[in-house]
Amino acid sequence: MDAKTIKEKAEVEIWQYVFGFTPMAVVKCAIELEIADAVESHGGAVSLPDLASAVACSSSALGRIMRYLTHRGFFELNESTNQYSNTPLSLLLLKNGAKSIAPFLLMEASPAMLAPWHRLRTHVSLDGGSAFKAVHREDIWEFGSQNLAQSKIFNDGMASHARRAVSEIVEGYGEVFEGIGSLVDVGGGDGTTLRCIVEACPWIRGINFDLPHVVSAAKQGQGVEHVAGDMFKHVPRADAVFIMVY
Ligand SMILES: C[S@@+](CC[C@H](N)C(=O)[O-])C[C@H]1O[C@@H](n2cnc3c(N)ncnc32)[C@H](O)[C@@H]1O
Repeated sequence: MDAKTIKEKAEVEIWQYVFGFTPMAVVKCAIELEIADAVESHGGAVSLPDLASAVACSSSALGRIMRYLTHRGFFELNESTNQYSNTPLSLLLLKNGAKSIAPFLLMEASPAMLAPWHRLRTHVSLDGGSAFKAVHREDIWEFGSQNLAQSKIFNDGMASHARRAVSEIVEGYGEVFEGIGSLVDVGGGDGTTLRCIVEACPWIRGINFDLPHVVSAAKQGQGVEHVAGDMFKHVPRADAVFIMVY
């Protein structure tokens, strides 16, 4: 590539960074509008006017969103019927899909989680420190304990990751759970990880261990006992310990 072409390429490429926030913003918008769900509830194919009325949007504005999303592979437009259908990518945005990544994206795209990225410089500066702390004045766990709505967004995001990851672990490496009577998940969030493990390995008694504000909001039952505490002080006894961070 000659010097002139490289320079011209740079002139084009730089705009991807200027508007680098758009992919996340548009996908977040699609999740919030539940577009993938609306396509499914129309039998898998829907025209723009029907979709717009299903998700209560103006056709012209939604059309621009859909044009962006189809360009990115999220939906497919059938040119002869003028109907949108889901793709493997957009199916990951279904509200209640077993493999849905939607809660995780909503967590990463939440204002509280995005704000520290605006302070990345703090994190790398020699005299810097945690960008999260610079913005919120406390670490992420203390912040969650004081902001339960944000804690739920975080835990829902983690749970969606757990559903995706644990099914792979259990299917691919299920033998690691053989012979284990009790299993403690340290930092297990709302217990989704253990519920998935216990469902696949019902001989296991699950102990979900996390901070008090996390376990107090967790679902009860289904073979999993919740224990609150600080892992740096004490961890409940069990045959084996499970720790998963994404
Ligand atoms: C990154 S999340 C991982 C959640 C889950 N294991 C997963 O992968 O989906 C870390 C978890 O550790 C918990 N945690 C943080 N500090 C803790 C502590 N000192 N004691 C117990 N749990 C803690 C948080 O509340 C959070 O649920």
